[in-house]
Amino acid sequence: MTRRFSNLGVTGIIAVIFLAGFQLAPAQGSEGAKAKSLYDRLGGLMPISVVVSDFIDALVPDSILNQNPAIDAARKRVPAEYLKYHVTAMVCQATGGPCQYHGRGMKESHTHLNITDKEWDRMVTIFKEILARHKVPAKETQELLDIVGTTKADIVMAGKGKY
Ligand code: HEM
Repeated sequence: MTRRFSNLGVTGIIAVIFLAGFQLAPAQGSEGAKAKSLYDRLGGLMPISVVVSDFIDALVPDSILNQNPAIDAARKRVPAEYLKYHVTAMVCQATGGPCQYHGRGMKESHTHLNITDKEWDRMVTIFKEILARHKVPAKETQELLDIVGTTKADIVMAGKGKY
């Protein structure tokens, strides 16, 4: 009799552990679901390419940036389409999309432009205006600004170059 009770007790304990295991498992499709990439939250390559295109169209003729003769000379020499292609691939990759950036490094492609802090700030202002025009939400805007910010040290040559 005692032996039968103790056997039932062990079975009961196993059942409790088994059920508790189910209770503790994260619910699939809620907390267990993978967070969406920034690339997906922006809507993928189609809207990203449109935003980049508008950004380059605003950046290239900007009269403040073109007061820097090195920037002005480069924008006359380098086709906007080429910049759009590379920057789109870069944003696509950096936000978790399927593209691969194959252009030059940021230091190599900007050193000769002698970009100052003020010119960097002007670029950020234009970038924010374009994102606002396309109604990119605040969270995604901040994430994009953070990504762009990681390139600043390689792009701004303040103190190193004069024009
Ligand atoms: C004030 C800010 C910036 C200005 C005025 C600027 C301007 C330019 C210009 C004129 C070129 C062509 C240079 C040449 O080939 O001689 C260039 C290249 C490029 N820029 Fe910028 N840029 C700025 C910031 C950025 C940022 C923040 C990014 C990306 C996060 C970026 C991405 C690129 C790429 C991908 C290329 C092409 C690289 C290659 O030729 O392989 N630029 N930029």
